[in-house]
Amino acid sequence: MSERLRIALTKGRLQEKSVELFEAMGLDCSPVKNPGRRLIHPLPNAGLDVVLAKAPDVITYVEHGVCDMGVVGKDTILEKGGAFYEVLDLKFGKCRFALAVKKGSDFYGTYKTRRIASKYPNVTRAFFEQKGMDVDIIKIEGSVELAPILELADGIVDIVETGATLRENGLAPIEEVAQVSARLIVNPASMKLRKGQIGQFIAQCEGHLGKRTKIAP
Ligand code: PRP
Repeated sequence: MSERLRIALTKGRLQEKSVELFEAMGLDCSPVKNPGRRLIHPLPNAGLDVVLAKAPDVITYVEHGVCDMGVVGKDTILEKGGAFYEVLDLKFGKCRFALAVKKGSDFYGTYKTRRIASKYPNVTRAFFEQKGMDVDIIKIEGSVELAPILELADGIVDIVETGATLRENGLAPIEEVAQVSARLIVNPASMKLRKGQIGQFIAQCEGHLGKRTKIAP
């Protein structure tokens, strides 16, 4: 492992929020804000390199120890699992997993096996298993809201943030599956071998989470 700490950030919305947090912690994030096509960004005067990756890859890099830490949504953690420590709820990227159906449809009012479409089959399976309900799960890669409209599925399990996508497609949430927000994760070996550096970084994050009043959740 190199001397510098390496952190993987989930590209997109969580990347922006992570940068806001890091800047509030006094880190110069200019390389991440003007990334060009580069995917690894040493922060000036910080001993920290930032890697930009897709959410499931953040977990893969942290699990394999090629990144010491990562910022990833609880949605991906619940779906993919893995061997890492989840050390901090970063309180941004807040949304929820919900079960949604066509507005007005009686999802529970039949004995036939329901079909559920989702980008998150493992989350969906765990949710219905815990209810003792047998369902057929169909994996969809995006715009899952289409599945009930096209009558491929009786319901969906998906991320709901503002609820606008459901509303605009004639769907409605009927049950919450789980709360979601961004988490700081750490590789277990890094945590042991670089306890001082990582502990300090976690404490710094924690210290600024309460103070970031200007940052929308
Ligand atoms: C997510 C999710 C919903 C939408 C919810 O999709 O899958 O479709 O956001 O947001 P809302 O409640 O604020 O409307 P995303 O934008 O990630 O695109 P995707 O469906 O192609 O994955």
